[in-house]
Amino acid sequence: MTEKEKYIGVFDSGIGGLTVVKSIVETMPNENIIYFGDTAHVPYGTRSKEQITEYVLSDVKFLSRFNIKAIVIACNTADSAARDTVEKNYSDIPVYGVVAPAAKKAAKLTKNKKIGVIATNATVNSGAYEKTIHSFDSDAQVISLACPLLVPLVEEGRFKKGDQVIEEVLREYLTPLKDQGIDTLVLGCTHYPLLYDIITEIMGNGVTVISSSVAAAEELKKGLGERNLLSNSKISERKYFVSDNAEDFEKHALIFMGNALGGTVEQVDIEE
Ligand code: DGL
Repeated sequence: MTEKEKYIGVFDSGIGGLTVVKSIVETMPNENIIYFGDTAHVPYGTRSKEQITEYVLSDVKFLSRFNIKAIVIACNTADSAARDTVEKNYSDIPVYGVVAPAAKKAAKLTKNKKIGVIATNATVNSGAYEKTIHSFDSDAQVISLACPLLVPLVEEGRFKKGDQVIEEVLREYLTPLKDQGIDTLVLGCTHYPLLYDIITEIMGNGVTVISSSVAAAEELKKGLGERNLLSNSKISERKYFVSDNAEDFEKHALIFMGNALGGTVEQVDIEE
């Protein structure tokens, strides 16, 4: 296996990271991908930094068993809590995330410097988005809002336009943000890209909505290109591993991938 053909190792707290895989496949169809979803411990978004960091280190340890050329922290909560720890422990492998790409894009696109961020409790409490957006533009005003009802609703299939429950919940969360005059909104959670259409409709024309999953894939492509690590192989391989039931993951995968997984799913005990 050449350096370029090595796998991109992607992990998430569960299934949501598939929105990142979807964007990676769309922007870089030739890449080999190993995905790990920690479905036995999902959600991470309600947990403490210490607990999330412990899980993340096990996730990355599992991925590092494979021939990987990059680590992608595809979970906003994991990236917010444990990015520094991963970089410190795996200094020989480039680490990419979701927070910095979305923060960078928001800082670039905002005109009135008022940026909204919606995410899990843990991501909002970490302050990672504020810190990262300010590293790109110290004058930007960042208004963050935890939206804990969204992950369970999306996982229950309540994400389609016309679903009154999700539309009402989103209106309640988003109206105060809209009233504060933000012109850019970051979807700082793997699940929120599924709500993109409803969110853009509620926010209206004046607000640019940024998917952290799409931004992550764009930044990853740029990063791999700069390191001369983009694969040009004609065949690409995808393998998925989960820490709980594989059938369950497969059953829900389609809604996050929007397409077939394009690879096998296997349940593993990563503590072994
Ligand atoms: N993947 C998480 C995120 O992007 C959402 C699900 C969870 O709370 O684990 O923040």
